[in-house]
Amino acid sequence: MSFTPASAFIPFSPPQIGPEEEHELLEALRSGWITTGPRVRAFEAATAAVAGATHGVATFSCTDAMLVALAAFGVGPGDEVITTPYTFISTAQVILHRGARPVFVDVDPRTFNIDPARIEAAITPRTRGIMPVHFAGQVCDMDAILAIARRHGLFVIEDAAHAFGATHNGHPVGTLGDVACFSFYATKNITTAEGGMAVTSDADLAQRMRVLSMYGISDAREIWQKRYTRAGNIHYDVQELGYKCNMTDLCAALGLVQLRRMDAIAAARRSYAAIYDEAFADLPVTTPHVAPYAGHAWHLYPLRLDLDRISLSRDEVILRLKECNVGTSVMFTPLHLFSYFQREMGFNEGDFPVAEDLFSRVVCLPMSPALGEERIRKVAETVAHVVTEGAR
Ligand SMILES: Cc1ncc(COP(=O)(O)O)c(C=O)c1O
Repeated sequence: MSFTPASAFIPFSPPQIGPEEEHELLEALRSGWITTGPRVRAFEAATAAVAGATHGVATFSCTDAMLVALAAFGVGPGDEVITTPYTFISTAQVILHRGARPVFVDVDPRTFNIDPARIEAAITPRTRGIMPVHFAGQVCDMDAILAIARRHGLFVIEDAAHAFGATHNGHPVGTLGDVACFSFYATKNITTAEGGMAVTSDADLAQRMRVLSMYGISDAREIWQKRYTRAGNIHYDVQELGYKCNMTDLCAALGLVQLRRMDAIAAARRSYAAIYDEAFADLPVTTPHVAPYAGHAWHLYPLRLDLDRISLSRDEVILRLKECNVGTSVMFTPLHLFSYFQREMGFNEGDFPVAEDLFSRVVCLPMSPALGEERIRKVAETVAHVVTEGAR
């Protein structure tokens, strides 16, 4: 059968924004309150409820949510926090910004997630906590991770940037570790353009994160909202050295609409993963492994090329796909391969071989419901064409 490329470029991850988002955004703009206010509060409550947590602290980004979570645990110079090299820079950056040291542990070759069997060997008297990253929307092996954390008295802050809506043995991410941090960046399963949230069921921790997300001012959200009204007060106290990373009501307006569409978004992503799984069954590739405990949020579809059965490199496959009008992405360059981490922390190529092997083979395919099933089927056909062409 002859192959025809898509007539127009299929982007990797366009956001799905429609008239409802436009309407709510306009309402927020016209409400007279555009920064952190009632819409943020409503978005926090609704998001925490979906995640099974009692508190949500909305921030400018997931990066900021992780930063205030680490600050709330008092992480600082001399401390170590265990995480994975197979993540986005921000997981390690926030640890470094607290003056602490990220300690990397290699990943499980099937799931791309931190390998619990290797964690205990990385624990030292300086270890304060573990930051597992739920790669692609698939939860880590949290039973094993939480057992290790309990044994050693460590906190668990989950980088759940990819995993809003994901579950572990039926329990939502948000009910597992001490804090889970979500991202609502433009490409994420639900988006507020930029945005993040730390959810927890620990009221004290939530209050600390809330204060830290707004300059360290006591009751900042309440005081600030009343500040220029008749009920306002000119006095406030700064309790902690905080940050300024609050979410705005404009972003929350988008988030509230996206939350209402969450089930449809999740169903579309699941069906796209099934289309890919079926289309690639007989190709020299490995489709994503779903662990028995994982309810996958399918933020990413990380396809692994069986490079010993294909004459093209991963980068050549990506180039061919681009020539055929298919956009892809690669998540992630393992952090220890970046010059900053090598220069400042002494890492070298070869330090985390599983992560490096996965990186050399992975291609993430389009998954956004904004693309629609027809284009996803075209992506599947194009990948099959390119990989078959390159098969040895
Ligand atoms: C695993 C992971 N953690 C954290 C982040 C940071 O999210 P944000 O852009 O909301 O700060 C990302 C962003 O893509 C990510 O992929």
